[in-house]
Amino acid sequence: MNLTGLIERIPKAELHLHIEGTLEPEMMMQLAERNGIELAYTSVEHIRRAYDFTDLQSFLDIYYAGAQVLITAQDFYDLTFAYLERAARDNVRHVEIFFDPQTHTDRGISFSTVVDGICGALRDGETRLGITHRLIMCFLRHLSAEAAMQTLEDSLPYKDRIHAVGLDSSELGHPPSKFVQVFDRARSEGYLTVAHAGEEGPPDYIWQALDALQVERIDHGVRCLEDPALVQRLAGDRIPLTVCPLSNVKLRVFDTLEDHNLKQLLNAGICATVNSDDPAYFGGYIGENFLRIQQALDLDADDIVCLAKNAFAASFLNDEDKRHYIAAIDQAAR
Ligand code: ADE
Ligand code: ZN
Repeated sequence: MNLTGLIERIPKAELHLHIEGTLEPEMMMQLAERNGIELAYTSVEHIRRAYDFTDLQSFLDIYYAGAQVLITAQDFYDLTFAYLERAARDNVRHVEIFFDPQTHTDRGISFSTVVDGICGALRDGETRLGITHRLIMCFLRHLSAEAAMQTLEDSLPYKDRIHAVGLDSSELGHPPSKFVQVFDRARSEGYLTVAHAGEEGPPDYIWQALDALQVERIDHGVRCLEDPALVQRLAGDRIPLTVCPLSNVKLRVFDTLEDHNLKQLLNAGICATVNSDDPAYFGGYIGENFLRIQQALDLDADDIVCLAKNAFAASFLNDEDKRHYIAAIDQAAR
């Protein structure tokens, strides 16, 4: 079977995508101009040259600076709709996207500006591109638990448009346990929960995300293989991992794609999925992540089908929609 063709046509769900991480250098320059913001860069090439990261923090510093060009609801709309158009070309049918309200509200942008812009584009993405969606609000873990609790309060008027909460930003030194009360409150308000854990942080952070935050999925989680009891727990309870291969190499979690442990995760019976994280910064959208990791690890057609089905199974779609998309994958793989 031609695996490139299979990867291109197979229906996909993307479950780990930071909308601020889809800000391409061209749009960054355009929005800076539109909003009268001075950038530290003089050209698109200048911006791209800065994307040479040594670890998660070196990326986050540049990523938060880039997000400052986002000011109006139209900016958030344009960012989100451009991502959806790009995702449609990779045959993405369903997205569960993260946004970081604190990156914006701490600069004086209102919560409603951010949510109205993103949700307007998500709605149009559904009607014009046929892409279904969920929206996940992330707390920045380098900020305080009190600030996260305030953000949770601020989100309540928008609860009908926000499906779940998550945890992102600098992992080391900011364990999931710091946010137990925030996640307890979020669950009591009806939010589903996910958390970044085991990207740079140790397996213990994954245990904390499972036991203290009671998350439905782990974002990244690749360091779980260091702890056999944790692997048993993730596989036994079918807790999905949203894995991001190109991100992991750009942020030096693995030296090369050939060193990535995705195939070992699948072999261990874990429900692993492929995602793009911050594609404008890491060199590829979801299709590119599939293609590059297939080549690097010599994945076969069964692996590709398994990864694509895992994503729909791990999504927050209802069972009927999951069955519909999984049947479409079988159709595409025939
Ligand atoms: N925010 C955006 N991308 C992230 C990542 N890979 N890890 C943690 N926080 C993030
Ligand atoms: Zn992420």
